[in-house]
Amino acid sequence: MKIEQLRDQIRYHAHRYHVLDTPEISDADYDALVRDLIAVETEHPELITADSPTQRVGAVPSDLFGAVTHRERMFSLDNVESTTELEAWDERAARQLGRNPSGYVCELKIDGLAVSLTYEDGVLSRAATRGDGTTGEDITANVRTIEAVPLRLFGDVPQVLEARGEIYLPIDAFDDLNASQLDTGRKVFANPRNAAAGSVRQKDPTVTASRDLSIWVYQLGFVQGGPDFEYHWETMEYLASLGFRTNPASELVADLAAVERYVADIETARHRLKYQTDGVVIKIDDLAEQAELGFTAKAPRWAIAYKFPPEEQITTLVGIEVGVGRTGRVTPFAVLDPVFVGGVTVTNATLHNEDEVHRKDVRIGDRVIVRRAGEVIPEVVGPIISSRDGTETVWHMPENCPFCGNPIILPEGEKVARCTGGLECPSRLREWLAHFVGRSGMDIEGMGYKTIDLLITEGLARDPADIFFLEPAALLGREGWGDLSVSKLMSGIDEARHRPVARLLIGLGIRHVGGTVARVLARTFRSVDALVGASEDEISSIDGIGPTIAASVRSWALSAETPPLIEKFRRGGVRLADEEPEAATGDLLAGVTLVITGTLAGFSRDESKAAVEERGGKVTGSVSGRTTAVVAGESPGGSKMTKAADLNVPIADEALFVRLLDEGPPALDS
Ligand code: IVH
Repeated sequence: MKIEQLRDQIRYHAHRYHVLDTPEISDADYDALVRDLIAVETEHPELITADSPTQRVGAVPSDLFGAVTHRERMFSLDNVESTTELEAWDERAARQLGRNPSGYVCELKIDGLAVSLTYEDGVLSRAATRGDGTTGEDITANVRTIEAVPLRLFGDVPQVLEARGEIYLPIDAFDDLNASQLDTGRKVFANPRNAAAGSVRQKDPTVTASRDLSIWVYQLGFVQGGPDFEYHWETMEYLASLGFRTNPASELVADLAAVERYVADIETARHRLKYQTDGVVIKIDDLAEQAELGFTAKAPRWAIAYKFPPEEQITTLVGIEVGVGRTGRVTPFAVLDPVFVGGVTVTNATLHNEDEVHRKDVRIGDRVIVRRAGEVIPEVVGPIISSRDGTETVWHMPENCPFCGNPIILPEGEKVARCTGGLECPSRLREWLAHFVGRSGMDIEGMGYKTIDLLITEGLARDPADIFFLEPAALLGREGWGDLSVSKLMSGIDEARHRPVARLLIGLGIRHVGGTVARVLARTFRSVDALVGASEDEISSIDGIGPTIAASVRSWALSAETPPLIEKFRRGGVRLADEEPEAATGDLLAGVTLVITGTLAGFSRDESKAAVEERGGKVTGSVSGRTTAVVAGESPGGSKMTKAADLNVPIADEALFVRLLDEGPPALDS
């Protein structure tokens, strides 16, 4: 085979893999092709060309970081942060045009580093940073190492073509990079953008090559000897046809209402992307309209960036405290100078465990990077070491629990410290009660942290079973407790007495027993007594239950706390056995198709799906006319909710979902 044919084959498959994300051959077959090419080129070095797929690293000498004057200025974008501001931008454009723009292209605003790529006769000749917009830096040698950047274009190529895009680091690659930076005692990057910029600014292109960078191309620049275009959308299709990586989330829409829907959808969906976006870029599609609108000193009038609130911020860590959870787990958390991040004001962030505090070298008084992405609990990414002045202090896990005074221990070989106070520890009791009465547990309406705190401080609840002995007189007359609120709470408690056994098992907080396992155990043993009496072998022989769960259930059954607690539940009138065989649920949801979106408090993704499937129902990923209902948890996907509304598909919250699992479709009619 001719060497160019071999190269073309490799280019074809590399494009399928790195650009289109749809490989046709296995990695091994691809490697074999590359090995063949290397063999020919080793034998005939005179045949090596700069655009050969083997020549990504170190082939062509380039004036790394030398000044580059852009053929066309690289403009920045103006920002808006609300739909009101977006509408004002649109009105200005419409006023200048004398009519509404005829269409808009909505694109993700990629949070990386802008780059200009120049191709001469289809071969990459130069890559440059934006710099001040007029002059940038030559980064060709480094950019050549990015596999998604074509070294040679496909098809009919113009004499000169400049494409612009954003080099970025996928979030997984960013996390890996920061972990290895920490391990080797080097600085962590505050965000994927800084990491991408740092990676491209390496003096040694082999370091850049090791960083898993990628690119999204979003704009056609200077062209000589190429086709004419009327629309931005067309130029993007053209760039894709030449082999550039263009973002599939882009959409061409007709009016501003559709732009606003796109923005809202992306704002909720963006956390599921594998890379960071900090907004949406809206471009007026018609190039004649673009020309009419022109530029301000800094930015085009025909495009605007809708920016989302930042998800990383820098603030001061004023202290480190610990919390004790319902299992006795002791978790350190950072007390922060309040900072607005990820759309909310954050004052606390988790630090996971003591090991993590030391691994990240976070000290009290440090300036720290705080991240809050989506519904995730805020976390401290790491300290800004260069901001230290020597007054920062190293933190250690306290020896005694700040809530009950009992020793805190770190079991051999574990990372998680535990409070040894058992139910004597008010923090542990508080968290357990909150879980017990919570939505996925016994679901006692009207019982939140405020009530729980009152029950604990007044000595009315020393364990969850005490709730069922609560007398109205103990609450009546206290601040905020009148006849109505007390009787509501009492009837909430009474309802909880009759919940299926699975809900009690969830509420008991047995390690490794979440919703799915609890339902399997309840279905198998039918009563708490039978479960307590079951041997480890009996438990682990159940389909879907492994030895870890069996051991944990057994150790719960054997713990000194368990038998008296169960007796107390019995005396309190709590249901300890399911009369109806739960197997009747096998077809409870037959013919039901659900779409689950957002985070549910009491179920993981897998658990909610399994719960539906166990009952003969189906869970699918997209809303259609055949969807029975959309189950919406915390932060549901905007497009799914819109679609559900469009198609008149009922929307169920988590409480209704739980009822649906218990009662079947009639639950939706109430
Ligand atoms: S277009 C003349 N499209 O955002 C228009 N820029 O804040 C030039 N960016 O410097 C830019 N995603 O680095 C455009 N889809 C996108 C973008 C995008 C990210 C960056 C770009 C630009 C900065 C402006």
